[in-house]
Amino acid sequence: MTTSPVTVTVTGAAGQIGYALLFRIGAGQLLGPDTPVRLRLLEIPQAVQAAEGVAMELDDCAFPLLDGVDVSDDPRTAFDGANVALLVGARPRGKGMERADLLEANGGIFGPQGRAINDVAADDVRVLVVGNPANTNALIAASSAPDVPRSRFTAMTRLDHNRALSQVARRAGVPVAQVRRLSIWGNHSASQYPDLFHAQVGDRPGSDLAADRGWLTDDFIPTVAKRGAAIIEARGASSQASAANAAIDHVRDWYAGTPEGDWTSAGIWSTGEYGVPEGLISSFPVTSDGRDWSVVEGLEIDPFSRERIDASVAELLEEREAVRALGLV
Ligand code: NAD
Ligand code: LMR
Repeated sequence: MTTSPVTVTVTGAAGQIGYALLFRIGAGQLLGPDTPVRLRLLEIPQAVQAAEGVAMELDDCAFPLLDGVDVSDDPRTAFDGANVALLVGARPRGKGMERADLLEANGGIFGPQGRAINDVAADDVRVLVVGNPANTNALIAASSAPDVPRSRFTAMTRLDHNRALSQVARRAGVPVAQVRRLSIWGNHSASQYPDLFHAQVGDRPGSDLAADRGWLTDDFIPTVAKRGAAIIEARGASSQASAANAAIDHVRDWYAGTPEGDWTSAGIWSTGEYGVPEGLISSFPVTSDGRDWSVVEGLEIDPFSRERIDASVAELLEEREAVRALGLV
């Protein structure tokens, strides 16, 4: 076991995803069975008491790998020395709230959190934004942290990736483990593009399944892209356990590296790959070498995929324009 614990800061710790996430982190599922973890929980003042209750429960699990839990409502305290920052807490869209209002309200959260990460987090900090709108919130946080490499700020599209894996496995009648090299492109929103043209599904190329254009366009793509709304409709609450699971998958693969011959999807800072304008946080097919994410190179993008990637990227550009107009990036 390594001796010094890794500091993991989780925002929105008293929320639904927080409750599904924190116990798995305490159990060692984020960084593996040899790495002790110190948790720092950030909440708004009204929810600090509830977060303290979660901390009490974490204590009561007596997790051998859990080195301690601190609760705070101050970002500079909560991100102090953070090696991993999971930004889950966000402002949900309220009644009558326009998209610009939502972006502005989240700017009020992710701007100060980005600045605090810049000033007090560990030099090797890695950030995953889960709170929606995740890509643009990550852009705001990254833009507020000029001393932290942009590549350390990521947005979660792993839940979309996992959703796509399951849909494809079911369609093909193979175990999920036999579906590889799926890709989510663009925004974590209904405009995202789940791409199976480069996938391997059991012993078939994904393009075989994609040849059924009716299934591809009327079933697979909308089922994956609108799954979040379908969960809200069915549960009366948004995905929490599957979102927490995806956050664990994202960070675990970032540290451990992606398996040989496969890739995953993550929202990362674009440097212009595949025609996605530089400086957007867009989802790409990515691999990790244990330190950095890299966009998978050399994929051929046919006109069907190009149109859909461009549509989702256009939405990201609109969101960036809106937060630029508000002076947030
Ligand atoms: P929730 O409302 O149950 O919890 C959010 C928590 O964040 C609350 O406890 C709230 O007090 C806290 N919070 C708000 N502002 C904060 C701030 N400035 N600092 C610290 N904490 C703050 O919501 P949830 O179900 O846990 O979902 C959290 C977010 O994750 C939402 O934005 C949701 O849309 C998003 N989400 C993203 C994905 C994805 O795939 N990227 C999937 C599911 C949910
Ligand atoms: C999801 O994909 O499940 C969430 O992003 C949905 C939401 O709006 O919280």
